[in-house]
Amino acid sequence: MSDITPFARLGAARVAAIVDRFYDLMEHDPAFAGLRAMHDADLTPMRSSLTGFLTAWLGGPRNWFSERPGTCVMSLHGAMPITPALGEQWVAAMDRAIAAEPDIAPDLAATLSTALGRVARAMARIPQAA
Ligand code: HEM
Repeated sequence: MSDITPFARLGAARVAAIVDRFYDLMEHDPAFAGLRAMHDADLTPMRSSLTGFLTAWLGGPRNWFSERPGTCVMSLHGAMPITPALGEQWVAAMDRAIAAEPDIAPDLAATLSTALGRVARAMARIPQAA
């Protein structure tokens, strides 16, 4: 098995591009209006925070964690009113953002979508197969 991290395969620019596309979709597509309504008017800090979180989560530089000692992203979301419908909006927007990344390796896109879908559905308390 390869020990190359998903971050190394993707590269920093693609992580940022996927996150930007995710928030662009949230901002402009009415399918994600419920998700948009939960967020601040200014999504700029979120673009930067989610990029930093995913960078670390995918095996890249861990600045997001070292700048927020002890922060748990699951606990952070546990305090939010995340319904199953909002969880599915998050998953759908992220799937689209990943799939639209030009020339992304299909296995990497599938792995990312599956793994992020599991995290989001856990946050939304949507039952899922182990
Ligand atoms: C399940 C559906 C989800 C919903 C409805 C949701 C919603 C939110 C909301 C409303 C915020 C606060 C935004 C603000 O302050 O304006 C937020 C922050 C954040 N979310 Fe989510 N989220 C979801 C899933 C996820 C997932 C799966 C991840 C990571 C893989 C994630 C990572 C983050 C991060 C890193 C922040 C920023 C924390 C900070 O810098 O304070 N979220 N989310």
